[in-house]
Amino acid sequence: MKTTLTLPSPLKGEETETILSVRNLEVCYKSGKKIIKAVNNLSFDIKRGETFGLVGESGCGKSTTARAIIGLEKISGGQIFFDGVQIDGGKKEIHKKIQMIFQDPMSSLDPRMKVSDIIAEGLDVHKLYKSKEERLQKVFAVLKAVGLSADYINRYPHEFSGGQRQRISIARVLIMEPQFIIADEPISSLDVSIQAQIVNLLKQIQKEQNLTYLFIAHDLAMVKYISDRIGVMFNGRLIELATAQEIYDNPLHPYTKSLISAIPIPNPKSERLRKRIIYKPL
Ligand SMILES: Nc1ncnc2c1ncn2[C@@H]1O[C@H](COP(=O)(O)OP(=O)(O)OP(=O)(O)O)[C@@H](O)[C@H]1O
Ligand SMILES: [Mg+2]
Repeated sequence: MKTTLTLPSPLKGEETETILSVRNLEVCYKSGKKIIKAVNNLSFDIKRGETFGLVGESGCGKSTTARAIIGLEKISGGQIFFDGVQIDGGKKEIHKKIQMIFQDPMSSLDPRMKVSDIIAEGLDVHKLYKSKEERLQKVFAVLKAVGLSADYINRYPHEFSGGQRQRISIARVLIMEPQFIIADEPISSLDVSIQAQIVNLLKQIQKEQNLTYLFIAHDLAMVKYISDRIGVMFNGRLIELATAQEIYDNPLHPYTKSLISAIPIPNPKSERLRKRIIYKPL
């Protein structure tokens, strides 16, 4: 069954499965004299424990939406609720529960900092330990969770491969004990052979720690693999919202159809017959 885009008003977290509600979100940027509506009347709910995939072409407003949710972007309209509490306008305590993994681990990790300090940065900022020993133990625990050796704590980001660096980014987020993780194209900068490892690691951690994900990507194939439900964005708006399987089997919007038609089919015979559908908005 297709989910409609008219959503009920968000309820307090304990009474509902919903952990995050975005309501009529609007974010504008100034470009010279022009104002660009990067996000336009966007509404969706994310259920506790699910992975919500957000897809759409470059520039459609995915990262802007993510940045608005974690409070990095000023919003010009709408509301954002986390666990029933309105968080737009800055509620620092709640924002700790929401953490974000960025696309390019090389530019999001400070090259002059040691791995242990990179991972513990959030703890340091919020003073979340009583002793150096406790801090170190927390770093060891998250290194283990992401499959990295404890021997790495004194190394620097450039000494690692892309996949390992993304594991460090994940450790840095996990140490904050979040409930909700936004992963903004967390695998786009990685070799294809490494992408599945990172996605599988994210899935495993989600199960172990009962996390909710907002997973952002261009690539619908990978989003389908990890997501329970998928929202398709186009030009700042949400144009389709359904379960991953429904989006794939029965896309309704012509833009979603064009995204699906771009996915290669792992069968040479069918792949030869695959027709790209190009979406041209009116
Ligand atoms: N800081 C900014 N100042 C001005 N315009 C911006 C800014 N950040 C984003 N934009 C514009 O807002 C729109 C949405 O950008 P956004 O980065 O959210 O897209 P995206 O879907 O994440 O794209 P990508 O897939 O390339 O990461 C684009 O037109 C972009 O040029
Ligand atoms: Mg982006």
